[in-house]
Amino acid sequence: MNMFEAKIIDKKEVAPSTFVFNLDCKIGYEPGQFVMISSPSIPWIIPKPFSILSYDDQDGLSILFKVYGLWTEKFSALSVGSTVNLVGPCGSGFITSLKRYGFSGNFSRILFVAGGVGIASIFSLFKHFDGAEKVLVFGGRTEKDLVLLEKISSLGVQVLVSTEDGSAGFKGRVTDVMQKLDIGDFDVILCCGPVPMMKAVSDFAKILDKPLFLAMEERMACGIGICFSCAVKTKNGVKLCCRYGPVFSSDEIAW
Ligand SMILES: Cc1cc2nc3c(=O)[nH]c(=O)nc-3n(C[C@H](O)[C@H](O)[C@H](O)COP(=O)(O)OP(=O)(O)OC[C@H]3O[C@@H](n4cnc5c(N)ncnc54)[C@H](O)[C@@H]3O)c2cc1C
Ligand code: FES
Repeated sequence: MNMFEAKIIDKKEVAPSTFVFNLDCKIGYEPGQFVMISSPSIPWIIPKPFSILSYDDQDGLSILFKVYGLWTEKFSALSVGSTVNLVGPCGSGFITSLKRYGFSGNFSRILFVAGGVGIASIFSLFKHFDGAEKVLVFGGRTEKDLVLLEKISSLGVQVLVSTEDGSAGFKGRVTDVMQKLDIGDFDVILCCGPVPMMKAVSDFAKILDKPLFLAMEERMACGIGICFSCAVKTKNGVKLCCRYGPVFSSDEIAW
């Protein structure tokens, strides 16, 4: 984990109030890890956590974020050329967590489940599991929450969409789409989204006895295990989401 400065080299509004920023820096990471970001232009002491959407030498580090409150509103207004401060890569990603529970990661069929900007945490898994058959159930409140669809399909992922208002795909929730799939065919489920969605996916996976790994997005203040603001209750005691997580086995969480 390092502290460094980076310039915003590209900025796109991919849906209303939803942005992809590209930052010029070099970083190694595993899918599911995140960076803590602060900006000298935003008078805010506490940095904010964002999943690493992707990284390559040409486009740098990409993050995908939605405007929720004051900080993300100010951040979204920064222009190309602005400097930001980063700490990262933080936390244990999907690959480390799978290994922790004895999974080699040698899967032939993987089910991904994402809600809204939760897609950022699992996006780089599509390339990581290049040889596997991949199905993504992607849910949002409306079609505007479903971003990067073309990019995801171009990575050989079969995408099944659900929206609560029926504006795209199946009208309903991700678990309604999962009920229509033969979940028994999948080796593992990898998921990120709002907590109520992940709890519903967890209940579903439990009934079918399928391993499920979740990227939890607890409130964080430091991102490096100092402030204890990100405690998650697990069956093995309290764990820090920013160090032990953000990826947990759903079996371990004391929901
Ligand atoms: C490990 C980790 C990875 C994350 N990765 C991403 C990411 O890739 N992209 C991204 O957009 N966000 C991500 N988040 C969430 C992001 O950090 C917050 O959205 C951000 O801190 C909001 O800051 P704010 O000051 O603008 O809003 P706040 O003032 O903190 O929040 C404003 C309101 O929005 C609600 N809110 C805040 N965040 C969310 C959320 N994620 N979902 C629903 N409601 C919310 C709050 O409860 C509050 O009511 C991640 C969080 C964690 C812990
Ligand atoms: S965010 Fe500070 S300990 Fe996890």
